[in-house]
Amino acid sequence: MQLRARLAGACAALLAATCAAAPVEDVPFVTTPDNVTLAMLTIAKVTPDDYVIDLGSGDGRIVITAAKRFGARGLGVEIVPELVERSRAAAAQMGVGSRAHFREQDLLKTDLSPANVITMYLLPDVNLQLRPRLLQLRPGTRVVSHDWDMGDWEPDKTVTLDVPDKPVGLEKKSKVHLWIVPARVEGLWCGVGKWKGKQLAVAQSYQKFRAELTEADGTRGFEGKVESNIMRSKAGVTITAESTSLKATYTSGKYSALRNATFARARGTNCK
Ligand SMILES: C[S@@+](CC[C@H](N)C(=O)[O-])C[C@H]1O[C@@H](n2cnc3c(N)ncnc32)[C@H](O)[C@@H]1O
Repeated sequence: MQLRARLAGACAALLAATCAAAPVEDVPFVTTPDNVTLAMLTIAKVTPDDYVIDLGSGDGRIVITAAKRFGARGLGVEIVPELVERSRAAAAQMGVGSRAHFREQDLLKTDLSPANVITMYLLPDVNLQLRPRLLQLRPGTRVVSHDWDMGDWEPDKTVTLDVPDKPVGLEKKSKVHLWIVPARVEGLWCGVGKWKGKQLAVAQSYQKFRAELTEADGTRGFEGKVESNIMRSKAGVTITAESTSLKATYTSGKYSALRNATFARARGTNCK
């Protein structure tokens, strides 16, 4: 009896070790058809200066196409070892082995910071898990997703394509969504130099912002869109977000006097 109990314990431990070592796919392997791959890389305006990371790279087609057709460099991260091997072989065969790299890695643990383009064909809940990390990327980073959106982070652009050879779904169509990571401008900003005494309180929801400008004679507000690191408002103010400051780079009408006004992030809860 004692021996049986010990054997059962040993078997359970072995099973647990095997399970822990096996790759766990958060998304099944389904390929993005070629016309959708091209649309994803085109909507992201991929150039030879770009570094593309495909999260869950399958057979490597997106990174290989980015290298072959758009001249970019890229990395595919994939949890299934055979797919990584297959991708490396395909990249070598297509003559882009030096620019298209593949790594066996969990996409949820991948450093995304080297990318200026991220591509994904995952699932809605995985997109949502990635969303906070995508929003921390450099302003201007393009994120492209095949079919699935990002919850209440609305895409900057969506196109719908006919995909007669789509391997899944009844409707033979695909959506391609593009997001451009906005600068993080939320918070209180204090005028510096000759602008001391003015303050800008900015509320932000993804690409949308509302700013309240307070000067000696009162407060007025304007709203608009954060496009990469540029805050554009139809009210006649364009503000450029630099690494540690906001600068009014274009002003007109009632905001004319604000031209070149520079604001630094408040150190505390006010500008004193
Ligand atoms: C729908 S397929 C997309 C493949 C490829 N990106 C394409 O568009 O053709 C998703 C891929 O993600 C991989 N995958 C799933 N979970 C993963 C994880 N946690 N880390 C890395 N890859 C994963 C799957 O093995 C599969 O190859």
